[in-house]
Amino acid sequence: MKILAFAGSTSSTSINKELVKFVLKDFQDHEINLIDLNDFDMPVFSVDREKKGFPDEAHRFLKVIEECDAIICSLAEHNRSYSAAFKNVFDWASRINVKVFQSKPMLLMSTSPGGYGGGNVMNTAKTFFPQFGADVKQTFSLPKFYENFDIESGVIDPLMRKDLKDKISSFKAQINN
Ligand SMILES: Cc1cc2nc3c(=O)[nH]c(=O)nc-3n(C[C@H](O)[C@H](O)[C@H](O)COP(=O)(O)O)c2cc1C
Repeated sequence: MKILAFAGSTSSTSINKELVKFVLKDFQDHEINLIDLNDFDMPVFSVDREKKGFPDEAHRFLKVIEECDAIICSLAEHNRSYSAAFKNVFDWASRINVKVFQSKPMLLMSTSPGGYGGGNVMNTAKTFFPQFGADVKQTFSLPKFYENFDIESGVIDPLMRKDLKDKISSFKAQINN
């Protein structure tokens, strides 16, 4: 099974990417494609630029989704919403195929240094990603990343760790069916 993974961030020190990498340790028996949104850098979307054609990167983003069997992602929250980097890729891709996520099962996550763990971007994504073709199977938000996460050992808090592990197990069962 091919797993596409990404963080909704272009930060070189992305905490969302750390969370994704922690989760991917439970998917070592699968083929993993961990992409970096920096490799999908495009002009800021506008209807005027769109008239000049679609960037190759937008097609490539849709292609990596097409080629996967499941998606694991964690979204950064900027000003209560998607990061500009993710939104730009999302906007370009949605203009080629509004069903961006192409019915792929998704483990959707978010984290932030704050106590809501990117809960606002999570609420937006879990509400609206299905309209863009995502089959959101599980969701997880990790609050206070710097208190609750260790780079070596992952989620520290036992209850949060169990919650995430249970969701990973359920997701695995759902994508294997
Ligand atoms: C412009 C900007 C806006 C932000 N807005 C929020 C916010 O609304 N909610 C939040 O929890 N964190 C917010 N943050 C903090 C981010 O959650 C934090 O930078 C986090 O590391 C982003 O995830 P990343 O490391 O994966 O890029 C903001 C950060 C920036 C730079």
